[in-house]
Amino acid sequence: MAKIGIFSRNPFSWPSQQLQQAIIYYGYEPVFLKLSRIVNWIGFNDWKATSEGVNLYELLAMIVRPIGRCSLEEAIYRLDALHRLVRAGKIVVNSPSAIEKCIDKFYSLSLLEENGLPVPKTVVAEDANDALEAFHKLGGDVVVKPIFGSRGVGITRVSDPEIAIRIFRTLQFYHGVIYLQEFIHHGKRDIRMFVVGDEVVAAMYRESDSWKTNIAQGARPVAFRPSDELEEIAIKACRVLGCEVAGVDILESPRGYLITEINSQPGWRGLQSVTKVNIARKIVKYVLRRAKS
Ligand SMILES: Nc1ncnc2c1ncn2[C@@H]1O[C@H](COP(=O)(O)OP(=O)(O)O)[C@@H](O)[C@H]1O
Ligand SMILES: [Mg+2]
Repeated sequence: MAKIGIFSRNPFSWPSQQLQQAIIYYGYEPVFLKLSRIVNWIGFNDWKATSEGVNLYELLAMIVRPIGRCSLEEAIYRLDALHRLVRAGKIVVNSPSAIEKCIDKFYSLSLLEENGLPVPKTVVAEDANDALEAFHKLGGDVVVKPIFGSRGVGITRVSDPEIAIRIFRTLQFYHGVIYLQEFIHHGKRDIRMFVVGDEVVAAMYRESDSWKTNIAQGARPVAFRPSDELEEIAIKACRVLGCEVAGVDILESPRGYLITEINSQPGWRGLQSVTKVNIARKIVKYVLRRAKS
């Protein structure tokens, strides 16, 4: 039976279980793999890359769940290992190049802007004084984000210049990159669209009691049917980043829709609770279609 790998830190997590069941549903064998256990064999005739003893070259396809917290060296190695698999013709979803673009908020936002997609005014700098100047240019009310962050962790709204400069100096001291974005008055909700291939398979409003609308921060999923215009924005954004499975985050601002980020390793438990579409099956069906073409 052909095998499909799932790179996951936790095979018992809800999304991993959903993917496992979907793979079985389509008549394939799921195999859990760990990125941290990849071994690359170079100069050997066989065993080119393994993870916990599984030969990755013998899998029909691989699905990548979150890369996880790791050092820069580990992150680059893990992505390089996935690149090697792609060069060998293996199907890896999402591809390492898409993951690289999406996990870096500066890289993805600049690509989206270059391709005519709407994004918030954002400034990225290393020097605290440059960041302070940008803080004022952005209207003195900004959101400071980790450049590689997720789930709303570490994101802070700052509107006091004295606090702003303290934060910027601290980030500079620790060699962080300072990522500032105009604060968008979005009415404590945003839109999450889940894209698989060229299709928005499900969408929701995430409604919150605060300005942070991540489900991980306590926001509530509310069923939502996106317009054609919104679906087009989401699909185009994914195409620009080469992302095949993605959570697209959009804020409704007084000047229209603005994309805040594209998640290349999205969860979908909240979304699954407000849609009848089986999202894991959509993902697996797409991966199988790629593997067969
Ligand atoms: N520029 C902004 N103005 C207002 N709220 C924002 C802005 N950017 C992000 N947010 C809020 O913070 C949440 C997390 O931001 P996001 O950029 O998606 O980072 P993360 O990767 O942590 O999810 C968003 O879902 C949104 O609710
Ligand atoms: Mg987000």
